[in-house]
Amino acid sequence: MRTAVFFSVILLFACNQKQEKTSASDPHSFSNSQEVIIRHLSLNLNVDFNEKKLSGFAEFTLDSRNLQIEKAEADGEETSFQLSEPDSTFGSCLIVSITPQTKKVKVYYHTLPGAEALQWLSAEQTAGGVHPFLFTQSQAILARTWIPIQDSPGVRFTYDATITCPPSLMALMSAENDTVLHADGIYHFNMPQPVPSYLMALAVGDLRFHAYDHRCGVYAEPAIIDKAAYEFADMPAMIDSASQLYGDYRWGRYDVLVLPPSFPFGGMENPRLTFATPTVIAGDRSLTSLIAHELAHSWSGNLVTNATWNDFWLNEGFTTYFEMRIMEKIYGKPYSDMLSKISLEELKNTVKEMGDTNPDTRLFLDLKGRNPDDGVTDIAYEKGRMFLTLLEQTVGRERWDAFLKNYFSEHAFKSVTTAQFEKYLNNHLLTDDEKKKVNVKQWIYQPGLPDDCPEVVSDELRKAETAANDFVSGKEVTHETFKGWTTHHYLHFMRSLPEKLSLGQLYYLDKNLGFNAVQNAEIRCQWLQLCIKNEYRPAYENLENFLMTVGRRKFVRPLYKQLAATPAGKEFALKVYETARTGYHAVTRQSIDEILEWKEAS
Ligand code: BES
Ligand code: ZN
Repeated sequence: MRTAVFFSVILLFACNQKQEKTSASDPHSFSNSQEVIIRHLSLNLNVDFNEKKLSGFAEFTLDSRNLQIEKAEADGEETSFQLSEPDSTFGSCLIVSITPQTKKVKVYYHTLPGAEALQWLSAEQTAGGVHPFLFTQSQAILARTWIPIQDSPGVRFTYDATITCPPSLMALMSAENDTVLHADGIYHFNMPQPVPSYLMALAVGDLRFHAYDHRCGVYAEPAIIDKAAYEFADMPAMIDSASQLYGDYRWGRYDVLVLPPSFPFGGMENPRLTFATPTVIAGDRSLTSLIAHELAHSWSGNLVTNATWNDFWLNEGFTTYFEMRIMEKIYGKPYSDMLSKISLEELKNTVKEMGDTNPDTRLFLDLKGRNPDDGVTDIAYEKGRMFLTLLEQTVGRERWDAFLKNYFSEHAFKSVTTAQFEKYLNNHLLTDDEKKKVNVKQWIYQPGLPDDCPEVVSDELRKAETAANDFVSGKEVTHETFKGWTTHHYLHFMRSLPEKLSLGQLYYLDKNLGFNAVQNAEIRCQWLQLCIKNEYRPAYENLENFLMTVGRRKFVRPLYKQLAATPAGKEFALKVYETARTGYHAVTRQSIDEILEWKEAS
């Protein structure tokens, strides 16, 4: 049994209605946001690195609607509360009784060691090695593990917070941050724009700031701040391009925080402060489309939010589309086509793996009763993006861009369901003729990849295919062949090789072409997959080292999966995992536990 404890707040429990397990409007939340909705949160937390505990209180200002209340107390007077039996995925429902007149509800609490949003890192797990580090990851339904809250993407609130941490450390939130260290360790935050709970974020560590201009910059540990500053230098250009495409940036500052390598995701679009993995710092700026992606969420996701996790594609599909447009605008079409082609190939593989009748390959998902994490696949991202690309191609870029810009401004600070988008699309974009051309219903509600999915051609990537063919047919491939290549050429080169390679071929890639020494995490992960498939043992030290230091799920998951496919591989995987596991964030642990059928020692 995991020891996680969750909170989910019900701020009102009216009449003798029987409490449903989760709410009607959001299958992943207990909150009764139909009746009572929080408008503002005041958080006051102390960060205790010794006990690995946040403690303090959350105070809510309420707006209430259509209430029929029989008994309750609040506003400074002790009131009763009830915590339901915990569900292993959704946690407990916290019921606080209030009256129609109640203005404020205050919940004192502290987090427990199993709180899944939190990762408490020891000094050794950081780049500096001297100070501990804490970061949160709230999406999708983990905010409730560190704040008692109405944890639904359909509920928005403004917030302020006071965070007290050890004096030498800096605290940052998804809010207004003032970029300097406070000698007393006390930080006040204010978030004037309303956000849903999954965008609540906190990080505490030894951090420095580098400004690019008056509105954006990057935070990182002192040991990597210079590298980070170099890598993301195109951020101002990205903000300009994004605003030109789809309207003003509505959040004040845009900064990026580079986290330690155990961060389970590539990036997380916490408003005003994107959290990012250090594995995108390749030294050559070749992986910064991730910043374009997280920035794009400032429109698709943070401004216009998926109503529930079944509508996740509205966040990620729009963002992936928008990301590609930013990349095209800044770096040109040959470059964005290369990224686009790589992702489309990944999508096709995903659909093949999942099966094209699998209901989870639909854009609009049905995840009732399941962890919304099950919906985090290439489908939402890439099938979503390809659908929008098809719409663009059908109506032309000019009309499409105008439509999208209006969509963002008309739905700003609101949540949108898939059905609402569909209706908006039919009313504001597609002509009757166009409605006949694009099968919107099939794209949204049917599994698999429709036949009219756009194709992407990348001349750049052809070079990598040619090199792969040459390599397989025994023609000489040398460093000279790779001249001018980017990360994506190398990825495509490796993906174009046959599954089975001889040990001699792998030895050549390793010793003559230096593949086993590459530090770029994308290339390294792809190379290691080739090595596992072909049991190329000389790379296993590199493999172990990678799994021990990097916790980004996208990288470690395929490696463990492939290892688990053979008995010897699984044995190796279990041995590494036994040590590596404690260094992974709960999100990554959960995925790998499943793959390796890991049972925690009781
Ligand atoms: N919002 C997501 C990360 C996420 C999704 C966290 C669902 C928890 C649940 C973020 O914007 C994202 O998509 N990150 C990607 C990077 C991106 C470039 C595709 C990732 O982490 O790989
Ligand atoms: Zn995203």
